[in-house]
Amino acid sequence: MANDAVSFERDIKPLFRQIDIDHMSGMDVMLDDYQYMSDEHNARAVLEFLDGTRQPQMPPGGPFWSNDQLGVLRRWIEQGRKP
Ligand code: HEM
Repeated sequence: MANDAVSFERDIKPLFRQIDIDHMSGMDVMLDDYQYMSDEHNARAVLEFLDGTRQPQMPPGGPFWSNDQLGVLRRWIEQGRKP
C-alpha cells in the first residue's frame, strides 16, 4: 500500500461523506467528480480548506480530517492525481 500510487476512486473519494458531496456540489465544488478534482488548482483549494490554511475550515464545525487523511490527499496531488 505504501508504495502504491494513491487512487482517487479507491483512496480519496471514500473520504468524503455524502453530506459533503451534496453541500458542496450546490456551490460548484464537485468533490466526487474526478474531472473536477484532478484539476490541480481545484484539488489544492480543497486541501487548503480541509487543513485550515483557508477559512472556514471544512467541513464547517468538523469532524476535521486527520493528518493521515490529509497526507493521503497531499500525496495524491503530488503524485499527479491518478484516477
Ligand atoms: C474549494 C473548496 C471548498 C470551498 C470554497 C467551500 C466553501 C464552503 C462555504 C462557503 C460553505 C458555507 C459555509 C457556512 O455556511 O458556514 C460551505 C459549506 C459546507 N462545506 Fe465546504 N467548501 C469547500 C470544500 C469542502 C470540503 C472539502 C468539505 C468536506 C470534506 C466541505 C463540506 C462542507 C459542508 C458539509 C458544508 C455545509 C455545512 C452546513 O451547512 O452545516 N466543503 N463550504
